[in-house]
Formats: sequence, structure tokens, C-alpha cells
Amino acid sequence: MKVIVTGGAGFIGTNFIYYVLEKHPENEYICLDKLTYAGNLTNLEEAIKNPRFKFVKGDIADRDLIYRLFAEERPDQIVNFAAESHVDRSVLFPDEFLRTNITGVGVLLDACRKYGIERFHQVSTDEVYGDLPLDRKDLFFTEDTPLNPSSPYSSSKASADLIALAYHRTYGLPVTISRCSNNYGAYQFPEKLIPLMIYNAMHDIELPVYGEGINVRDWLFVEDHCIAIDLILQSGKIGEVYNVGGHNEKQNIEVVKAILKATNKPKTLIKYVTDRPGHDLRYAIDPEKIWNELGWKPLTPFEKGIEQTIKWYLENVEWMKDIMTGEYEKYYSEVYNNREEKFGR
Ligand SMILES: NC(=O)c1ccc[n+]([C@@H]2O[C@H](COP(=O)([O-])OP(=O)(O)OC[C@H]3O[C@@H](n4cnc5c(N)ncnc54)[C@H](O)[C@@H]3O)[C@@H](O)[C@H]2O)c1
Repeated sequence: MKVIVTGGAGFIGTNFIYYVLEKHPENEYICLDKLTYAGNLTNLEEAIKNPRFKFVKGDIADRDLIYRLFAEERPDQIVNFAAESHVDRSVLFPDEFLRTNITGVGVLLDACRKYGIERFHQVSTDEVYGDLPLDRKDLFFTEDTPLNPSSPYSSSKASADLIALAYHRTYGLPVTISRCSNNYGAYQFPEKLIPLMIYNAMHDIELPVYGEGINVRDWLFVEDHCIAIDLILQSGKIGEVYNVGGHNEKQNIEVVKAILKATNKPKTLIKYVTDRPGHDLRYAIDPEKIWNELGWKPLTPFEKGIEQTIKWYLENVEWMKDIMTGEYEKYYSEVYNNREEKFGR
């Protein structure tokens, strides 16, 4: 089987490629990635040595390139991780989110129709459901929860989900979708909460916490997400959506304090900053469907996963340094300096 993994040079895609290369020695994998600021080819250094792996630089929204790739490679499956994925960036620069996350998915789906495919899997997010109130611990997102996205990021992902499902219904395209909660683990770009806080703690830089830090996220170790996607590719039902989560809700401030504790740094490094506009309050997945239908359950508890993650970042200081380029630093100061002026209401 030949599988194209789009966005495989990013955080989850990289972890997925290493997982499936080992799990399926009979398969060939092609990573297609535009290598935006979030894509890092050095992540795939080891994979590139494998004769069953190939890297192609390209944009999922580039129709000619995508059709050429499909014509040459004739893939059996597509797993689409490629996306602009950071909510803060989507607030500042929504255009690129619409282009990659909506148009790009449309191009991939058209290519699947044109050349024939056994499966198109869209990697989506629980953020498409919007958020839940903090004081209703009894509420969870099920696959039937109405889509109610809040940010340009989540609305672009919700659009892609609807288009993919429409291609299934209208053209019979074999589509599956997974909607996962927040991931953490190795190779995550240090603009996201956990690697950012680890990096800052390691370097005695203030840890910027949005608002009061009481927003709740449902954290999943990245390898558990990869296992879930692989399982959906093997045994998921065509045309179905699967929520992926492990009932591991934590307030942002709890996560930050856990990182300070694990790195032996003082709580005085915490700095509360102006909240993100429209900041979702709580995400919480009901994973019953994938638990019951596919027998998936997360294998790594948060305490073990976070310890492993911190260890990885401490051992990969060079990886962090290399990607903290001038461009990233410019963006960092754009988001975190003068937040009141930019995001205050
Ligand atoms: N990170 C999370 O917690 C999380 C949770 C649930 C779902 N997701 C979804 O999983 C997917 C991967 O997330 P991530 O955190 O690894 O993202 P990421 O930002 O780390 O990686 C995205 C990758 O896509 C590539 N890319 C961007 N635009 C592209 C384009 N036009 N053409 C080809 N490649 C392009 C980037 O170069 C990068 O390698 C996304 O679709 C995201 O919505 C992420």
C-alpha cells in the first residue's frame, strides 16, 4: 500500500510517520509538505534514510502539483495533516488558513476523485465544536454535537470536515474524519502551550499565561493520537467521524505549574497576559465511539507523557534553537508584546 501523508513535517505528522513506518513494514509513505514555518525537514532526517519513505515539497492547494503527484504515485490512501494550525495566527492572518485548510482540502479531495483512492482521512480537531462552559463538567463533545467553531482556525477546519463529508455523500468518496483533543509530545513547534512553557522555563524567561489560566483543555499524548488514526485507517467505517480523546482535562495553569515543577523552576516565572479574543473556555471529548467501536484507548497517562515530553525537549535543545529563527522571534514579539493594544477589547 502507498500512503501520502500531507503535513508530515509538522508536529503530529512527524510522529505519525515514525509510528507507521515501524508499524507497517509492507507500506510505502510519501510525505508532502510545504515546509511553512511549522514544517521542519530535520524532523524527518531518520525517515529519509528509509527506502520506503520519500519527501516531496509542495502545497496541498497547488492543483497542478497535486494532480502530478497523484498521477505519478497512484497512492492508495491520503492522510491529511497539512494545515495552518495556530489559533493566534488565525486571528492575526486568517487568509492563509482559508487557503490551506479549506481550498487545499478541496484540491486533495478532487485529486482523490480524479485518480481513485481507497481512503481519504482528514485529521480534524475538537475545536470545530466550539467550547463548553466551565461550570458544566457533565457536558462533552460527541460526534453529533453541532459544529460551532469560534476562531478563523476552527471554522476553517469545520469547513474542511463538511466538504469532505459532502464528497463522501455526493461522489461516494471513501472519507473518514478524526476530531482529536489537544496533543502534546516531541516535535511540537514552540509557539504552542506546552513546548513554549518548557522552553521559557528552561531559559528562565517569563511564562505568559492567557487571562487567569482557567481555560480547560483535554490533553492527549501525540502517539496515542497516531495510534487512533492508524486504527481508523484499518477498521474505521467509511463516511464516519471519530472523536479522539482520553478524558484528561486540565486547566492551562495546572499544566504550566506541572512544567515548572518538573523543571525545578519557581512559580514567580508565571506572567498573566491579556486573554486571546474569543478564547474557548473548555474542550472535552466524549470518546465512547472510538473506544467501543474500534477498541482504542489512550496508553500514556498525562503524568508519564509530560515527563517524557519534557525530557525530549531537554535532550533536543539544538532542535529548539534551530527553529527559533528570526522569523519566529518576530512573530513571538508580535503576539506577546503589547497584547492589550492588539487583543484588548
Ligand atoms: N496540535 C494539536 O493539538 C491538534 C489537535 C487536533 C487536531 N490537530 C490537527 O492535526 C493536524 C496537524 O497538526 P500539527 O499540530 O501537527 O500542526 P503543525 O502546524 O505542527 O504542522 C502542520 C504541517 O503542515 C504543513 N503545511 C501547512 N500548510 C501547508 C500546505 N498548504 N501544503 C502542504 N503542507 C502544509 C506545515 O509545513 C507543517 O509541516 C492539523 O490539521 C491540525 O488541525 C492538531
